[in-house]
Amino acid sequence: MSNGATDALLQVRGLKKHFPVHRGLLQRQTGWIKAVDGVSFALAQGKILGLVGESGCGKTTTGRMILRALDPTEGEILFRQQDGQVVDMAQLGRRQVVQARRQMQMIFQDPYSSLNPRMPVRDLIAEPLRSYGWSARDSHARVGELMERVGLDPRYARRYPHAFSGGQRQRIGIARALALSPSLIVADEPVSALDVSVQAQILNLLRQLQTDLDLTLLFIAHDLSVVRYLCDEVAVMYQGRIVEQAATEALFTQPQHPYTAMLLEAAPAPDPHASWMEEDEDASEAGEPTPTDDQGCSFAPRCRYKSDLCSQQMPALEGESHLAACHHKDELELHGV
Ligand SMILES: Nc1ncnc2c1ncn2[C@@H]1O[C@H](COP(=O)(O)OP(=O)(O)OP(=O)(O)O)[C@@H](O)[C@H]1O
Ligand SMILES: [Mg+2]
Repeated sequence: MSNGATDALLQVRGLKKHFPVHRGLLQRQTGWIKAVDGVSFALAQGKILGLVGESGCGKTTTGRMILRALDPTEGEILFRQQDGQVVDMAQLGRRQVVQARRQMQMIFQDPYSSLNPRMPVRDLIAEPLRSYGWSARDSHARVGELMERVGLDPRYARRYPHAFSGGQRQRIGIARALALSPSLIVADEPVSALDVSVQAQILNLLRQLQTDLDLTLLFIAHDLSVVRYLCDEVAVMYQGRIVEQAATEALFTQPQHPYTAMLLEAAPAPDPHASWMEEDEDASEAGEPTPTDDQGCSFAPRCRYKSDLCSQQMPALEGESHLAACHHKDELELHGV
């Protein structure tokens, strides 16, 4: 891993997105929401990186900026194109973005809302191809191939999305994303809306596709148990920043950040009175960034290990191959699973 990797397909450096906050009758701008506040990571070709954290911590915003569906406030998004050229997605003009975008695709949580209900599956999967100039005939052949690849019977190509189950719709979404042979896929909670049994099937499919097509994946999830099975490496986000990043097994067995340990502990049934919560803290503020200008560790208000230093100084994300942003990471003995 490491943030200096030259073999990286994707290298994100100091990525930020600050949204203005407007209040009151006159809708005056009163501050900023630092949805993403200095995210850096490298993703090597053929690897799967999990991006995990509670609702509102900035996962989707990060993913959308990488594809330039959203303009970053600051930072670099270095992407190695299939022709070997490295481009900074953050700097590209509209036209260049269109070209680069065929090589990076997004898979969404709710495939149903992203699929036009009035289009048969055949046309839905062909849509990205057609928009990049494929002929109807070539697209047709490619659609059959894609449906088989994701485990859908090509005989159902004329059916409409409503005729498919949730898992099958996600397969349609995946086929669409694969249509233009992208090298990078950003999957934004692709199994969160599915039944547990179906989740496993879709995760298996993604694993298989990654191997067969040498795909590189940024896999967004709020559930750590989902990423353990799939990801080579995991980055944990809290309030717009990565607080821990490591190889999957290392992160699960030897977490270094109290927040990661809390997520691991809270996995099955979160206990509001768990030792992690400060008794008098309002736990509902959770991972959402607050529109205040803060100093110190953003997790400190919820951390049982906090010291004076924690409320005064923001810890840097540091380490050899296992990175954590905690002043006390070397003293703490946190429990993994
Ligand atoms: N267009 C926007 N304008 C203002 N604030 C926004 C906008 N989009 C997102 N935010 C805020 O930015 C923060 C991060 O949102 P984001 O959707 O990236 O979180 P997330 O980690 O994907 O959460 P979830 O798990 O709920 O999908 C949240 O506080 C959200 O309210
Ligand atoms: Mg999201």
